[in-house]
Amino acid sequence: MCGIIGYIGPEEPVSLVLEALSRLEYRGYDSAGVAYFGKDGRIEVARASGKLSNLVALCQGQEGRPGPAIGHIRWATHGAPTEDNAHPHRSGPIVVVHNGIIENDRELRECLTSEGFSFSSETDTEVVAHLIHRYFRSTGNLSESVRLALRDVRGSYALAVLCEDRPGELVGVRRGAPLLLGEGDHSFFLASDVPAFLKWTRKVMPLPPDVIAAIGPEGLALLPVDGSVPLSPVFEEVPWDPVAAEKGHYRHFMEKEIFEGPRAIMDTLEGRIAPGHGRVMLSELTRLGPSPPEIVFVACGTSYHASLLGRQLIESLSDIPVRVEIASEFRYRPLRIRKGAWVVGVTQSGETADTLGALDHARREGYLTLAVTNVPGSSITREAEATLLTRAGPEIGVASTKAFVAQMTAVWLLALHLARRTGLREEEGSRRSLELLLRAPARLEGFLGAIDLAAIDRLAEKVASSRFVIFIGRGLDYPLAIEGALKLKEITYRPADGYPGGELKHGPIALIEPGVLVVAPLVDLDLAAKEWSNIREVEARGGTVVTIASPESSPVAPSYPLPPTDGWEGMFFATAVLQLLSYRTAVLMGNDVDQPRNLAKSVTVE
Ligand code: F6R
Repeated sequence: MCGIIGYIGPEEPVSLVLEALSRLEYRGYDSAGVAYFGKDGRIEVARASGKLSNLVALCQGQEGRPGPAIGHIRWATHGAPTEDNAHPHRSGPIVVVHNGIIENDRELRECLTSEGFSFSSETDTEVVAHLIHRYFRSTGNLSESVRLALRDVRGSYALAVLCEDRPGELVGVRRGAPLLLGEGDHSFFLASDVPAFLKWTRKVMPLPPDVIAAIGPEGLALLPVDGSVPLSPVFEEVPWDPVAAEKGHYRHFMEKEIFEGPRAIMDTLEGRIAPGHGRVMLSELTRLGPSPPEIVFVACGTSYHASLLGRQLIESLSDIPVRVEIASEFRYRPLRIRKGAWVVGVTQSGETADTLGALDHARREGYLTLAVTNVPGSSITREAEATLLTRAGPEIGVASTKAFVAQMTAVWLLALHLARRTGLREEEGSRRSLELLLRAPARLEGFLGAIDLAAIDRLAEKVASSRFVIFIGRGLDYPLAIEGALKLKEITYRPADGYPGGELKHGPIALIEPGVLVVAPLVDLDLAAKEWSNIREVEARGGTVVTIASPESSPVAPSYPLPPTDGWEGMFFATAVLQLLSYRTAVLMGNDVDQPRNLAKSVTVE
C-alpha cells in the first residue's frame, strides 16, 4: 500500500505536499517523493528512500511555483525500496504517482521497450508513465492520453498525473485503490485518504472507479473512461475533525487513539438507540430485509478478531448461526452457506483487497452483503448492499486500536438489533446488555482516566524480557487474547501467539518453561473459573502469568485489576489494558510505534 496526493491551487506546493504526505505516512514509509513546477516552469522531481523525513531534508529550502503538484509515500510491492524505485516516475513531459499493482506490467514493459522506451526502475508504475507519454505524443491532450493508456492496463491503481507541457492541469483516476477528491478555496486535492487534506478542506468526494478527474483552468471535469457523459461532482462535508488527525500532546498516534476509545464507542452509538424506547435502531440495515438465517463475517487481522466477538454476542442474543471467516481464505472457496445469509465484511479502512474480494465473491453468488467500516465512501461501501459505519474518526497509528473498539461496539449493536428482530431470547437479557453498552463510554473513560501506567510499565518490563508470550482466553476472552498477541507482534516484534485457554494442554503447553510469559484477560464471567484452571497449569510448569481481571472473575488479586462488571463491557477495559501493554512495551524497547516495520495501514494488495 502507498499513499498519493495531488494538489492544484494558489499555495506554495512543496511544503503543502510534504505536509499532506506526513498525514499519509501510515500508508507506507519505504520511500517518498514529490513533483512540482519550478520557477522556470519545468517539473522538478525530488525523491528519497527511507522515511518521509529524508525527503523533507532533501527539499529543505526548495519552493515551487503555485500550480499543480503531486506526492507519494511508498510501501514497496514491485522493486526494492530504493530511490530509483521511489515515485514520482517520469517519461518525457509526463510525471506520475501510483498506488496499486499493474498486473500486466511485464508484457507492457516488453512492448514499450521494443518501441524504444527505456526503464530506469523496477516498478510497475513506470510503464504507466511511458504509456501516457506514448499517447500524449499523438494526442497532445493529457486526460485523453490517460484514458487511452488505461485501456492497455490491467490491475488496480490510483494515479495522479502531471504534464510539463500542461502546467495548469492535474489528472487523477482510480480503479480498485482509493482516491478522494477534496475541494478547497480555489483549489482541488486528490488523496488516498481524507486526513491528507483535512487541514485545508472538509469537502470530499470519493472518485468513482474508472472516472478521470481532470482539473484545469476551467475547474474540475469528471470524465468516465468509457467515453460516456461527464458526471457532475457532488462534494460532501466529512464530519471528521482536522485535530483528530493530529497527535496533540500525545507522544504517538497509537497512544492518542487508545485514549480515544470512549469517544469511538460514544460516536458509534449515536443516533442508533431509539430515544426513550431503549431499543437499537439500525436503519442502515433496512434494505437487507428481515433477519437472516445465517451470518458470515469476513475480515482480516484485527477486524477478524472483532468479528469473532460479533459471533459470540450475536449467538448469545439470537438463534442466528454465525460463522467467521478469514477473508483471504473465504474468497477462493465455494460458498456453502444458507440461502438468504448475510455476508458481513468488517474492515476499518474499507479498502482491504481480501475483504473486498470476499464480499464480491458473495455478492456474485447472490448473497446479501453488509459492510462494517470506519471510512465513509471507502470502496467497501460501494461494494456492499448496506453499510454500518463505525465512527472512530481517522485512525493513523498502523496498529489498530480505537477502530477495534468501535468495531466491538458495532457488532454489539448488531447483536442487539438482531435480538430485537428475532425476539427469541429473553427481553431482559437484551435490555441489560443495552444498559451496559450505553454506559460503556463513560466507564471506559473513567477507567482510562485512572489508568495506572506505572503498573502497566512493570508488566511491560516482564513482556520485554520474555522469550515468548502466549495469550490465552476462553469465550469472549479468546478474541481479546489473539488480538493482544497480534498487537504485541506488530509493534514490539516479540514472538507471541494466542490460543483458546482449553487448547493449551493440546500442544502449546509444551512451550511453558521459565522465561515464557502467559497473558490472560478474564472478562468472560461464565468461563473465568475454567480459565483459572489453565492458568494454574501454566504456573505449575514454571511459566509466569499476567492476569487482567475484574473482582467477579478473579479469586486472587490479578496482575492488573479491572472495574467490577456483570456483563460484556469488561471487554473494553481488558482491550485498553492489552493495547497499552503492547504500546508501553514497544516504547520501552525504543521501537517506532506508529510505523512498525513491514506493515501498512490498509492492505490493498492480495
Ligand atoms: C492490526 C491491523 C491489521 C488490520 C487488517 C485489516 O493492528 O491493523 O491487522 O486489522 O489489515 O484491515 P482493515 O480493518 O482495514 O480491513
